[in-house]
Amino acid sequence: MSREKIVELTRGHVEIMKSGELPLADDVFRIPVTNYFDPDRWESEMDLIFKRVPLVLGFTVEVPKAGDYKAMEVAGVPLILVRGRDDVIRGFVNMCSHRGAQIVDNGNGSTRSFSCPYHAWTYNLTGDLVAILDDQDFGEVDTSCMGLTPLNVEERVGIIWGSITPGVELHLDEFLAGYDELLENHGLGDCVFVGRQTLEGPNWKVAYDGYLDFYHLPILHKDTFGPDYNNKSLFDHWGPHQRVQGPDHRLLDLVNLPEEDWSQTRLVSGVWTIFPHISIASFDAGGHIFMISQLFPGSDPDTSVTHQNFLASFEPDEEQMLQIEKQMEFLRYVVAEEDYFTGNRIQKTVKTGAKSHFIFGRNEEGCQRFHRWTDALLAADNDNALLELYKNGID
Ligand code: FES
Ligand SMILES: [Fe+2]
Repeated sequence: MSREKIVELTRGHVEIMKSGELPLADDVFRIPVTNYFDPDRWESEMDLIFKRVPLVLGFTVEVPKAGDYKAMEVAGVPLILVRGRDDVIRGFVNMCSHRGAQIVDNGNGSTRSFSCPYHAWTYNLTGDLVAILDDQDFGEVDTSCMGLTPLNVEERVGIIWGSITPGVELHLDEFLAGYDELLENHGLGDCVFVGRQTLEGPNWKVAYDGYLDFYHLPILHKDTFGPDYNNKSLFDHWGPHQRVQGPDHRLLDLVNLPEEDWSQTRLVSGVWTIFPHISIASFDAGGHIFMISQLFPGSDPDTSVTHQNFLASFEPDEEQMLQIEKQMEFLRYVVAEEDYFTGNRIQKTVKTGAKSHFIFGRNEEGCQRFHRWTDALLAADNDNALLELYKNGID
């Protein structure tokens, strides 16, 4: 079923290649430059986007076995993902019910239970408080309602989505709008986690614009991978999520090839974004590797943090691992020294007062759509409006 969907999508692209006419957005689109640094705007984005929509918090392959956990901070919220003995992944705020200590350090690990480093209260994998140190001295408390505070999380197609706000429902079907059927083709659940590196960058939207933009590839990246790409793009979307595909030799190769011979590797090429903060790209390093960039806002409007996660669709041997590490360093360089280098300088120009607006061309539909969704989410300031927006989209 899912291969059928992605073949259908690619068939459409092949037809476009044959016709030689790339679709373009209806018009150019302008946004105020203040969107990239205004503190009130940024606060609203935190409250109405990052603290409300499902975020990609991790991957199945990071926490494959019972007791495996991942602790991290997202938009200021410390949280834990942990797989229970029932194989279910759960999310909790990383905060002790006694006096608020973070019960585990950030990072990945495996445990039978969580013991708070402050006064050793202990929680099991389902978040229940199971022991209070010297409880005879502590006094009467009802431990049954003193577990860790749960967060809604859901695992699908090898990805762990979650809300960072207690009590907020994910509405994942509505949010994904069928996109998961396409993402199923990546086989992320069967991959091997081979590495992660973290980069600092500009405002999260300055950074994210770059992932949706192939217009800059042969220019900004002329000294690295750019020459292998043209500056054109094909955009597809499911709800707020978009796939960007270059209409280049990679796609042309398929024109004369029967559909059954279209390789899975080729079908999942390009950039797959998951709103508001993920980009999935892939490359070859002795086999198919995914680079999943997980972009989070920093502590202020001018900063962001990106985790580049690397998942291999095969078990790499020593030599392949060396190749992967080399490629990781290359991709760190490209993003840090080319994309975010440029982005950090944009972060300065937007505040000069020299220009009131940025303009996105008809060939930059991906960025247009990203900003229109961002605005629509800020306008949908209650639960019903949010669900309606998920269901009806912005078109
Ligand atoms: S804060 Fe955790 S046991 Fe006291
Ligand atoms: Fe780039």
